[in-house]
Amino acid sequence: MKDIYLIENWKMNPVSVKEAQKLAADVSSGIKRIKCKKNLHIGVCPPHTYLASVGKYTGKHINLGAQNCYFEDRGAYTGEVSAKMLKDLGCKFVIVGHSERRRYFKEDNEMINKKIKTILKNNMRPVLAIGEQSRESFDAKGVWSGELDPAIKDQILGALKGIGAAKAKNILIAYEPLWAIGTGHAASTDDVMSVRIFIQKILKDMYSASVMAAIPILYGGSTDPKNISSFLGDGGMNGVLIGGSSLKADTFLDMVAAVNNDGLLIC
Ligand code: PGA
Repeated sequence: MKDIYLIENWKMNPVSVKEAQKLAADVSSGIKRIKCKKNLHIGVCPPHTYLASVGKYTGKHINLGAQNCYFEDRGAYTGEVSAKMLKDLGCKFVIVGHSERRRYFKEDNEMINKKIKTILKNNMRPVLAIGEQSRESFDAKGVWSGELDPAIKDQILGALKGIGAAKAKNILIAYEPLWAIGTGHAASTDDVMSVRIFIQKILKDMYSASVMAAIPILYGGSTDPKNISSFLGDGGMNGVLIGGSSLKADTFLDMVAAVNNDGLLIC
């Protein structure tokens, strides 16, 4: 049975250390109640200021992650946090290339590529977010038109430029169509399956079939307890990148329970 990655992207939430600790503590105790799932890997990615506090609640299935980093290790970069510093705090994952970073902070593929290289150099796993702007790859009935926004290909080729096969195996790719993020309108199972194949073909052409098979592909965008199993089951995804639904412990734990009830976790 394949490994399943549930990456929690808290974004710029919650607004106090106390709330962050409570959320992390509730998820941690809830996961213990659900008991041992060998193939379950949770990555909790709070804002940087909460990393040390939230790190206390990591454990067997819960790893610490960050939402961003800078590509230099140290120096005169006011306001930035390096991958090395995140590693020192115990981070295992770093989200990179999220559409909100691309849109609001003007991050381009070149910068994302540098960040991925730094994250890998520091022995953490980058969660590379990619996705198209609009739904134009799907016709009026929501059927895949076969023409994927070339941005997805550019994002992958640009982000992975110069990264060898051995290192590439440590990357996770999260397909997050912009039209599905925070909208309540998730992509369909067929959508994600089509895009998964598209991404796999790019990875196979860049590397090999075995590297392609080693890179987990996640879906993100309005995931919740009701739809999560469809992405991991029929959609063929290896996990999900969760925004809004990761901010309430009960909702997140319901997602884990749904995946478990649908037989996707190994006890
Ligand atoms: P959402 O966000 O689950 O709230 O749609 C996902 C993300 O932006 O990573």
